[in-house]
Amino acid sequence: MTNANLLTDNPELYEARFPDPGRLAGRWAEDCLRRHGAGPRVLDMGCGTGRDAAHLHHVGRTVTGADLSEAMLAHARARYPGPAYVRADLHGFDLGRAAFDAVVCLDSSPLYCHTNDQLDGFLSSCRRAMAPGGLLVAEMRNGAYFLGRTDLLGTPAVNAFTWQGTAYRSTTTLTVDRTAQLLRRTRVWTSDDGAPPVEQRSAWRLLFPQELRHLLTARGFEVLELHDGPGPRTEPPWREGRLPGRTADADRLHVVARLASTP
Ligand SMILES: C[S@@+](CC[C@H](N)C(=O)[O-])C[C@H]1O[C@@H](n2cnc3c(N)ncnc32)[C@H](O)[C@@H]1O
Repeated sequence: MTNANLLTDNPELYEARFPDPGRLAGRWAEDCLRRHGAGPRVLDMGCGTGRDAAHLHHVGRTVTGADLSEAMLAHARARYPGPAYVRADLHGFDLGRAAFDAVVCLDSSPLYCHTNDQLDGFLSSCRRAMAPGGLLVAEMRNGAYFLGRTDLLGTPAVNAFTWQGTAYRSTTTLTVDRTAQLLRRTRVWTSDDGAPPVEQRSAWRLLFPQELRHLLTARGFEVLELHDGPGPRTEPPWREGRLPGRTADADRLHVVARLASTP
């Protein structure tokens, strides 16, 4: 058994496991940006394979994709040219003061800030990166979902799929670490190509809607939307023309916040 992040080390496998052929996440992000009148310069923080950054580029925005994974960045540069791609850490980054009109952060990327210091670093970095009046658009798991619900916890979830002729099987177990306020994931990968099993451990901060609202408000953001859908990873998924809901109860959380126009 080896330890690795099989998905972020293998961006093509990541896209095979989490396909988004209709570019729903990019379209949803663009819809938020457009509805709230964001300017053209967008930072996609935790951009992963670059597919959302590329979508925003294709609709006319000037996009920078940033990620910690060199493998993801190399894939994004080769597969999704157009945006600039840079290595940066969510926990603290400096890509220029007021260099962006918006920061987007999709598929739980903000939740890789596990500690309060890391969250502070992320939000301070976003503030520095954004022009006054800039927008933060984020989409992530909802910590509140796990209050009183155990349906996603404990029991291993098995997923099987074939990629480039190899059959892969992942067994994922989620547990709640209440002390650290983290959702911990253990995922074991096996494949039929003779490779040894790979165990991947990961975690997300369990952020609660009102905690997120407070963190943003305390840093000078006005929360414009905070809801559990529809969004790109909800069931039913978001479609053009569908407006945000008013609850924050289901398993995905969506936030749009505007930085104050005067610093
Ligand atoms: C679940 S993926 C989401 C990727 C992309 N936003 C999407 O929606 O497809 C999370 C991404 O965050 C990146 N990441 C994890 N920790 C990070 C950190 N501290 N700084 C920057 N990126 C990070 C990973 O490399 C990965 O590409």
